[in-house]
Amino acid sequence: MNVLVVNFKAYKQGTGKAAVELAKKIQESAKKFNVEIILCVQPTDISSVAKAVRLPVFSQHIDAISYGAHTGHILPEAVKTAGASGVLINHSEHTLDPDEIEDTVMVAKKLKLKTIVCCQEIGEIEQIIDTKPTYIAIEPPELIGEEVSVSEAEPELIDDAVHCVGKNLLVGAGIKDKEDAQIAKEAGAAGILVSSHIVKAKNPTKVLKEIIEGMF
Ligand code: G3P
Repeated sequence: MNVLVVNFKAYKQGTGKAAVELAKKIQESAKKFNVEIILCVQPTDISSVAKAVRLPVFSQHIDAISYGAHTGHILPEAVKTAGASGVLINHSEHTLDPDEIEDTVMVAKKLKLKTIVCCQEIGEIEQIIDTKPTYIAIEPPELIGEEVSVSEAEPELIDDAVHCVGKNLLVGAGIKDKEDAQIAKEAGAAGILVSSHIVKAKNPTKVLKEIIEGMF
């Protein structure tokens, strides 16, 4: 297991100047580990974060559009130009219809942006798996931001998701420590998707290191 995605969401600690500071801290504390850390930031922070660190920066969303009359949308070409190398799609806090997911993955692929499609359950994975995103993430929404993680509460869901997706599965929801990461690793997942327990932590570095320890 060697992928760790940190989603900054719209938390105050992950917005604007704080996003840049957090990104620097994450880069510094992870440099001696052989792990690919991906930072998912708000579109408005892509440029400043991508300039401040060498880690891959993903947009939290794009719209399936191209240049044109699309007021208020998130233009894929613009996030790419700002420095994003990938995009999170269909997060449970920003869901899309299966058709929209397919269109968004296609648009991203055309621009050579990597893709993480989030799914809430196995049925949803089955609906979108043919779009062949870079990664599929399984995240039961009721555990997101909670103290009990998906690893503790639903280890069998991780097994089922690995069975369905294979080696490109990411696991998220409530991940907070070494044991949570270990359970996902032992099930065969490629990586972890984490937000609140790092972004909102008093000491994000400490939690980050602990989660990374469980990945090896
Ligand atoms: O995208 C990551 C996510 O939804 C998990 O959030 O706060 O449970 O780590 P959290």
